[in-house]
Amino acid sequence: MTTAAVSCKELSFAYPDNPILLNVNFDIHDGECIGVIGPNGGGKSTLLKLIACLLKPDKGAIDIFGKPNEDSLSQIAYVPQSLSFDRQFPISVLEVVLSGLISHLTWLGNYPKSAKEKAVSALEKVGLKDFAHKNFSNLSGGELQRVLIARALVSEPKLLLLDEPTASVDKQAEEHILSLLEGLKKSVTIIMVTHDLNRAVNFFDRLLVVQKDVTPMSVKEVCEHFAMGLYHTPMLDAGHELIHIRKQPND
Ligand SMILES: Nc1ncnc2c1ncn2[C@@H]1O[C@H](COP(=O)(O)OP(=O)(O)OP(=O)(O)O)[C@@H](O)[C@H]1O
Ligand SMILES: [Mg+2]
Repeated sequence: MTTAAVSCKELSFAYPDNPILLNVNFDIHDGECIGVIGPNGGGKSTLLKLIACLLKPDKGAIDIFGKPNEDSLSQIAYVPQSLSFDRQFPISVLEVVLSGLISHLTWLGNYPKSAKEKAVSALEKVGLKDFAHKNFSNLSGGELQRVLIARALVSEPKLLLLDEPTASVDKQAEEHILSLLEGLKKSVTIIMVTHDLNRAVNFFDRLLVVQKDVTPMSVKEVCEHFAMGLYHTPMLDAGHELIHIRKQPND
């Protein structure tokens, strides 16, 4: 039996007075490309943060390639939904990407040449090689998002978590990001939050639905039901394999 890329067991999590996930169980296989969908406030970002070890579950565990997630941080890369940073702080695009290789810092506080080469190559992958010495603060939303993806890729992760990476970018940047991710499929396990169901049809192997109710649906069924009304209960259980997340029913 192969080890799951992500194995989530009996996971429960609540913010103060706000239960989000209750007894969640699912496995994601190595090399899968998973879409995470659900209504605003349903817990998609929270789930990604739990997998990335940025939040601690109240109960249960998440294993990454057979080890607890806190022992697998070097294999995980996370691109957040939004980023708050000091726009006055002078940091170059290259430095932002290099910060994805923080463990490579020498005791003198410098990055070795090999790290810089990796960072430039990651920037090349997202089409921003020429931006290496620009000020990160001056980038457009789409460019900023691509730099964050380069920062995630530079550590050569086995698991890539992306929270709505194309939400604030134009069509051209979206195409660029998605074709980049397309090229990573199979070699990297991808979990990506999205609200774009048209995209979900062709892009993802399976969907992970984070919503109040729990109902198995195939990707195709999800789309049919979305066409009729967002996130309502489906009329039939087609028995397709689909991961589901249970949220507290009274939330
Ligand atoms: N740090 C926090 N402290 C308290 N409550 C939080 C915190 N972060 C998120 N929440 C709440 O938890 C719920 C789930 O938030 P989350 O960001 O996971 O939703 P989401 O599915 O990603 O939504 P969206 O589609 O809007 O991005 C929301 O009601 C949100 O207000
Ligand atoms: Mg979110």
